[in-house]
Amino acid sequence: MKEKAKPKPPGGRKTFFKDEVQVARKIRDASVKIVKDFMGNAAQGASIDHEKVELASKTLTGSVFRNVDALLSLTALKDYSEHTFTHSVNVCCLTLAIAYASRVSEEEAAVIGVGGLLHDIGKSKIPLSVLDKPGPLTDGERKVIMSHPLFGEEILKTMDNVPEEAHYMTGQHHEEVNGKGYPRGMTGSEMHPWAKMTAVADVYDALTSARPYKPGLPPHIALRVIFDGRGTDFDDAVVDTFIKQLGIYPVGSFVKLNNGEMGVVMEVNPDDAMRPKVGVIFSQFGKRRPSPMIVDLYREFKEKGAETARAIVSADDPRNHKVNVEDYLEVPG
Ligand SMILES: [Fe+2]
Ligand SMILES: [Fe+2]
Repeated sequence: MKEKAKPKPPGGRKTFFKDEVQVARKIRDASVKIVKDFMGNAAQGASIDHEKVELASKTLTGSVFRNVDALLSLTALKDYSEHTFTHSVNVCCLTLAIAYASRVSEEEAAVIGVGGLLHDIGKSKIPLSVLDKPGPLTDGERKVIMSHPLFGEEILKTMDNVPEEAHYMTGQHHEEVNGKGYPRGMTGSEMHPWAKMTAVADVYDALTSARPYKPGLPPHIALRVIFDGRGTDFDDAVVDTFIKQLGIYPVGSFVKLNNGEMGVVMEVNPDDAMRPKVGVIFSQFGKRRPSPMIVDLYREFKEKGAETARAIVSADDPRNHKVNVEDYLEVPG
């Protein structure tokens, strides 16, 4: 008797999303803790255990190379109260996703991950009252904040075995290819290629995160902002790779379907960016469901064809519908 062929994950992934995302959650939580620890140590001038950072990076990188969509989907989760730590891990994962899509080796990616985790270490030297200030900053406060890449370089110099590239990623992640960034006003040709990846990842996570002084933007608006900065703020090739990897409707997007239903993108389809899995929250009559109904738009398309299958018609701001997408993404897959 012939054995039935085992189903393979789509898009050349090595593991299925539903399996990898379980592992990725644990890896992510552990990484946030490691960042919290080293930021605390850095704030007090204590030494930082580079081996732990390296191990966290290796573990995150492994997950990205098995199934990039898993960790990428978790970057939609923002921890408001522990922003800097979650942000560091999110930027690390987003940068790793760009690196993966740029076909760097897993060894190189593990170095990139170290830079991603450490990129904002200089913020440990800045008081929270300034970092989280709800109102407008004074010139002095702005100057202090804009020094964090330099503070970061200083801290990295005190650590043993930090790869050179991590210094560049830390020092250059707020530079812009047009030379209008900070702290040195470097141009695209002067920036390290991996710092250019971190710069895009950093702005995307900052835009999509809520802060005391601003709400978070929905992914499709943030992607628009990134696209508008293509070739001026950001390296154009990096922007293209980023948007291609993240897809048109990243996990956490709030979307409207052609039958009037609305819901949250829960899982992307690497074979078809237009047809992710959506957790439907509102019926076509606008009635809110007690729990989301998961619809696989790709499967429906395959079974019913384009004429009758449900499809996404637009993305919207979930706040217009009193939806906090994180409530739906927090639920263990
Ligand atoms: Fe930064
Ligand atoms: Fe940052």
